[in-house]
Amino acid sequence: MKSVRIVEVGLRDGLQNESSNVSVEQRIELFKKLVDAGIKNIEVGAFVSAMWVPQMAQTKEITSLALKELSKSKNGKTVQPSVLVPNEEGMRQAIDSGIKEVAIFAACTESFSRKNINCSIDESFDRFKSVMALAKKNKIKVRGYLSTCFVCPFEGVVDPKKVVAIAQRMNALGVYEISIGDTIGAATVSQIRTLFTQLKKVIPVKKLAGHFHDTRGQALANTLAAYEMGIKTFDSSIGGLGGCPYAPGASGNVATEDVVYMFDGMKVSTGLNLRKLIEVHQWLQPMMNHPLSSKVGRVGLSNPIKC
Ligand code: HMG
Ligand code: MG
Repeated sequence: MKSVRIVEVGLRDGLQNESSNVSVEQRIELFKKLVDAGIKNIEVGAFVSAMWVPQMAQTKEITSLALKELSKSKNGKTVQPSVLVPNEEGMRQAIDSGIKEVAIFAACTESFSRKNINCSIDESFDRFKSVMALAKKNKIKVRGYLSTCFVCPFEGVVDPKKVVAIAQRMNALGVYEISIGDTIGAATVSQIRTLFTQLKKVIPVKKLAGHFHDTRGQALANTLAAYEMGIKTFDSSIGGLGGCPYAPGASGNVATEDVVYMFDGMKVSTGLNLRKLIEVHQWLQPMMNHPLSSKVGRVGLSNPIKC
């Protein structure tokens, strides 16, 4: 059977941009429920500055509790939790936490890089050198994110050539995968096709992932377009939570339930249980101060695809 790999980012990308106060206990409950629904790759938080992103301030506690939960669980070894790190300081915190995967992130436009991590693109790559050295020493896997790959909230449409050059730089650092971000959910299918065609010429398709926000309702179409080009890894967030606090107007990632519904219908395995994901959506909804955006989650279990 054909398959795709889903990276659940709701606890990080999702909650980093929510004003609801979701406690550590609730986050761990969410983590457990997502793992029970079959999630294998899951971001649990970010070792970033709490001044910049207060919603991620309890990442240390959350990481430690999540790792404890996995050590108790029968299938714990098959789950790979990860955290975002912007610099050496974040990486040192990640090492102390005992986590074995991190994600670094760079922008494809100077304005977004400054707004998000307070440095230029070149400076961000300089910072990654020590992060990568520490990762190697501590046997930690590193994933790379590129933001503003299609449209920047400050600079407009981004030239694919620029993105390809930055992706090559990220690849040269030694990350195992590069997640291509439509940070403000503005890309359309033709942009997806153009950029991934160019990226595939210089980076093995197996190393590319799609990270699509759904601000303009294009994320599922973009996911399908990327899948048809050979991309097999997609980031999504339960309920469609989230966005980036430094990307004005951006809403959440494509919802995990919606992605799974689409792939289930195509007989492409995600390894996830749609019925359980919908139950997670229903459990999560009362904690949020707005309706979750997932359409499949809202319709609930009355959907026609067998869960
Ligand atoms: P800065 O203010 O330039 O940092 O922030 P600094 O090096 O000047 O240090 C200032 C203070 O921050 C110092 O503390 C440092 O120790 C501390 P003080 O001496 O004043 O007490 N500091 C840290 N504290 C905790 N963790 C750290 C850290 N580093 C320094 N890692 C910094 C630079 C990168 C830290 C800041 O800009 C930051 O945290 N930015 C993160 C922004 C963020 O998390 N954005 C959202 C995630 S990215 C995203 O959502 C996009 C993505 O989803 C893909 C897509 O959709 O496109 C991935
Ligand atoms: Mg994002």
